[in-house]
Amino acid sequence: MRINQYIASAGITSRRKADEMIEEGRVRINGAVLLNPGYHVQDGDVVEVDGARIQPEQKKVYYLLNKPAGYVTSTADKEGRPVVTDLVPDSVRVFPVGRLDYNTTGLLILTNDGDLSNKLMHPSHGFDKKYLVRANGIVTLAEAKRLEEGVDIGGFVTSPAEVHLIKHDRNSTIAEITIHEGKNRQVRRMFKAVGHPVLELSRIGLGNLTIGKLAQGQCRKLSPAEVEYLKRV
Ligand code: URA
Repeated sequence: MRINQYIASAGITSRRKADEMIEEGRVRINGAVLLNPGYHVQDGDVVEVDGARIQPEQKKVYYLLNKPAGYVTSTADKEGRPVVTDLVPDSVRVFPVGRLDYNTTGLLILTNDGDLSNKLMHPSHGFDKKYLVRANGIVTLAEAKRLEEGVDIGGFVTSPAEVHLIKHDRNSTIAEITIHEGKNRQVRRMFKAVGHPVLELSRIGLGNLTIGKLAQGQCRKLSPAEVEYLKRV
């Protein structure tokens, strides 16, 4: 990218003003004052304006993925297992916001917007997270109430949650649970605490975002209204 465009895309000033800055000797490349206004910035160049390093702003992108089981919620895996970013068809590098277990499916946000990610991950944030669960055995109403009121998941008592028992057969129960916090493996630990280990787990909602009809392994861009919502909440 030509240097004046690079400076403009970093949000410093217009291209024309950037040319003036170069003429005034205010721009350095790798420590040396730039004399050539036609210079093309190379990978690895350190560009400074008035002594401060600048980098061009990247276009912010926001995806909602229906994570399949068997994917690590990461951008890379030491063991070479598939990672969720493999499923995002964009040349822009994104990273997952929060975490779903290797075998958990469902709604995961991926973005390159670090500010939004930090905000959403902050413990004070308390976004509702809704999960569809298939748990071992028959979960009774009394056990569902215990899940709602809070259970000890090993040194931590969960805060109030909402649980709806949907149906069961002889071996397992389908339920929906909404939690407002996000401890590691929280839903699995909660159901285990009441004697019904989770067999299958899928996140179906995050705040007012829902997985809808998005197939597993597919992702879609968030709409501008959805992005605004996440920034506002
Ligand atoms: N709770 C869990 O136990 N696992 C997840 O992946 C998400 C929430």
